[in-house]
Amino acid sequence: MQVTLCRLRTHQWCFILFNVILFHALLFGADFVEEYFLHSLPHVDMKILDIKDKARKLNLEPLRGNPSKYYILNQPEVCNGKTIFLLSLIFSSPGNGTRRDLIRKAWGSVTTVQGYPILTLFALGMPALVTTQEEIDAESQKNNDIIEGIFLDSSENQTLKIISMTQWAVAFCPSALFILKADEMFINLPGLVDYLLNLKGHLEGIYLGRVIHQDIPNRDPHSQEFVSLSEYPEKYYPDYCSGEAFILSQDVARMVYVVLNEAPVMVPADVFVGICAKSVGLIPIHSSRFSGERHITYNRCCYKFIFTSAEVTDAETSLAWKEVSDGKECSLFETYYGLISCKLLTYLDSFKHFHTGSAKDNAVYFGN
Ligand SMILES: *[C@@H]1O[C@H](CO)[C@@H](O)[C@H](O)[C@H]1NC(C)=O
Ligand SMILES: *[C@@H]1O[C@H](CO)[C@@H](O)[C@H](O)[C@H]1NC(C)=O
Repeated sequence: MQVTLCRLRTHQWCFILFNVILFHALLFGADFVEEYFLHSLPHVDMKILDIKDKARKLNLEPLRGNPSKYYILNQPEVCNGKTIFLLSLIFSSPGNGTRRDLIRKAWGSVTTVQGYPILTLFALGMPALVTTQEEIDAESQKNNDIIEGIFLDSSENQTLKIISMTQWAVAFCPSALFILKADEMFINLPGLVDYLLNLKGHLEGIYLGRVIHQDIPNRDPHSQEFVSLSEYPEKYYPDYCSGEAFILSQDVARMVYVVLNEAPVMVPADVFVGICAKSVGLIPIHSSRFSGERHITYNRCCYKFIFTSAEVTDAETSLAWKEVSDGKECSLFETYYGLISCKLLTYLDSFKHFHTGSAKDNAVYFGN
């Protein structure tokens, strides 16, 4: 091997180098381009200044004074008198109690990262069954970490859920600097907090996630996700953060609260937040470390680097959290190798699922 390498001519070396660069460009090119070119300057005009002013002077007394009008379970005291760096609201289905227990044992148990206080709560709507409600009541008694809004928790009502939980965060947890909305997926809290700390003083105007660029509304009237022209007339949605996981800073949540009633409700929940953010002049910040709807194939050092991974199994949840939080560091090379391996495997996986994909989508949809 050594001998053959030494004998290579310059053009052969160039060819190898070219291939190495091409390989990396194909694998990481999109991430790089997205992260560095998706930033443009936020837009500010009088209307936006007015919204900022309203957001600062919000009157939350009606909500705080009468929470039972909006929430069945509402932990009014959990944030009192505390500064919280990151409030993570896990959007959970009412019937998924076992999953919640698993999360409580994993990242749900984290109370500080690098000395910064973290709080994890579960966000629910109402279940269809009375018996499920009884189970949730018992679970809430035991753990004091469930917020339950007054609306049926269905796939069609996810925008209502976002609205209800944004209101809760603004009214009952105003001391939280950042708010994470995440599904019941893998969340690398230490990694996320580290990233937020590195924003160095940019504690305001943050709307961060996996940005979807130039998405088009579903105009098929037979589809469940149909969006009519009268509801949303434009050709493209504004750039928005994919709904599985994104972060808002507290001031952004307050601004969203101000404009909630002006945005169309019949669009997907994540698009709804994007429309609100646009109307307050915000540009979402992209990070490819958010997985979006993708499951990232497990690798320890890869999971220490990424922020989220969707559709993790119960076994993977426990393993991933155990290994990510065990304090064992990954060297630069291990991280590099981990990223290459989990990226390649994730791509291969998506090819494997290509054929079964549409059937699975339907199953997930109707399973809800
Ligand atoms: C509830 O759990 C099931 C099975 O783990 C999962 O498929 C589903 O996505 C979960 N619901 C939510 C809202 O995450
Ligand atoms: C959404 O929630 C409201 C309030 O609970 C309920 O009346 C409505 O049926 C729900 N919509 C769907 C499609 O589940």
